[in-house]
This record gives sequence, structure tokens and C-alpha cells, in this order.
Amino acid sequence: MNIVYLNGEFLPADEAKVSVFDRGFLFGDSVYEVIPFYQGVGFRLQAHLERLNHSLRAVRIKNEGNWNEILDTLVWKNGGGNLSVYLQVTRGNAGKRSHAYDDSLEPTVFACCTPIKDVWGEGAESVVPLKAIVTEDLRWHRCDIKSTCLLPNILVLQQAKDEGVQEALFSRNDKLTEGSACNLFLVKRGVLYTPKRSSEILGGITRELVLELADKHAIQFQEVDIDYEQLLSADEVWVSSSTRGVVPVVEVDGQVIGDGHPGPIWQKMFEFFAAFQRKLMRGE
Ligand code: PDD
Repeated sequence: MNIVYLNGEFLPADEAKVSVFDRGFLFGDSVYEVIPFYQGVGFRLQAHLERLNHSLRAVRIKNEGNWNEILDTLVWKNGGGNLSVYLQVTRGNAGKRSHAYDDSLEPTVFACCTPIKDVWGEGAESVVPLKAIVTEDLRWHRCDIKSTCLLPNILVLQQAKDEGVQEALFSRNDKLTEGSACNLFLVKRGVLYTPKRSSEILGGITRELVLELADKHAIQFQEVDIDYEQLLSADEVWVSSSTRGVVPVVEVDGQVIGDGHPGPIWQKMFEFFAAFQRKLMRGE
């Protein structure tokens, strides 16, 4: 059964109801997290919860949830297994539509799960490489906040689909920022590059782990500005996110990247990740 969490209760999804005056519905006045759980174990759970705290603080929504307990119970009630947990906190329901809000509002907290495949367990051969387009980054300048205002992200992804590819990468002032729901990496002559952490990108939890693993396994890396030419002339391009892991991009704007196949550094990173994941699942 699909059990969701809403404001203190665990209940079947079709019984969960939110007011039409909820500010999350009216204004997108809310933040969220997406956290994979593999066999009941959260992937970098603390880092996700710290980012949630950051988002809540940045938009001044009260942060009173007992997140660990809510998520563990939700995962358990949905049978454990491999699940992606969505957690959303809105500023709450003011009973009317008004841009201004009252600090006394009680946040609306919603969480649900979706089954995911264990990308690491299935091996690198099971990963389907992506093709992408580059589009202008029309988002605001606080992309470090994981806000549910995702219209620009939704529209560019749809544009990518219309153009027959699977991902859209954002570019702002000729600097690549990230993907529609993922961070961006490229490899050139054995060195890994990724845009610097700033308020122009989301500080991805997977991005952080990629850099940690690169460091641990002596893959040289740099956090730098990346322009369109550098992207197209890269030997490898990857995107990363908690739900998809690290996925190679083999074509951008119709131009083949490298030799058009997942590259050797990506293969290595995949294995490092898979080993990390196996340890996580053994509880180490
Ligand atoms: N999105 N950048 C953006 C804009 C994202 O939306 C995401 C993740 C990432 C990667 O972050 P992480 O490694 O912490 O998942 C980067 C999630 C998966 C989503 O919106 O569904």
C-alpha cells in the first residue's frame, strides 16, 4: 500500500488532503528534499537533512520536524526496500490568498515514497547514457535553496524531450551551471571539473560524494567555471543526482562528446560509488 505522511499522520495516499489555501499550492512557498533509501538505509541522510535545514532557514519557514523519525517510519511502513523519499515543507495554510504571511503559520509537512532501482547494484552496463541540450538558465539567483518553484526546470526538461533528448543543461552568462535536476561534471585529459558551489547551483549531495571519492582515489579535480566550448570539447560529461547516481552524457546539442561512449573515468567513478553503496548497505 502507498502510505504517505501528512502533518503528523501516516495514511493511505488517497486519504491525504491539503487545503487549497496552502501556500505551497498557491505560491510554491515551500522547500523539499529527495532522499534515496536502499534496503531501508538513507543515502547520506544527514547531509540531506542539513540541506533541508539550510533551505528552511533561507526562506524562514519554521523547522520543527523530527525528520529522522518521520522518514524511517515512512520507509518502514512502505516495506523498506529501495525507495526514493520525497519530503516537502510548505509555509502552511493561512486560510486565504495573500502574498504577505504571518510568522505564526504552522508548516505543512508532506512525505511520500516511490520505488527506485538500485543503480549501483545493477552494474555500469545497466546505465543508459544521456543526450542533452543546453538552455538559458532563467532561474532566480538562489538555486542553493531546494525550492519547489521548479517551472524553469520543468520547461527546459520538456524542451529537451521535444528535441528527442533526455536532459537539459543550464547556462548563465556563458557559464554552465547544472542540469534540470542534476549537477554537472566534465573530464578533460584525466582531470575532473565541476562548477563551483555557489547560489547559482544546488549543492548536490551526490556531487559532494563524487568529489570525496575523486579525492580518495587520486582523481584530480577542480571546481571551476565551465563554458560552452569547454563542455563540447570535453572527453567525458556526466550528470549526478541522488536518484540517478552518476550518468554519462554522450551528446550535447547534437555534438558527440569524446568518442560517444561512457568514458574510462566515469567507469572508475561508477565502481567507487558502487563500493561505497555496498558498504552503506552492510551498515559500515
Ligand atoms: N534534484 N541540481 C538540481 C537543480 C536538482 O534538482 C538536483 C536534485 C541536483 C542533485 O542534487 P542531489 O545530488 O542532492 O540529488 C542538482 C532531485 C533529485 C529532484 O528534484 O527530484
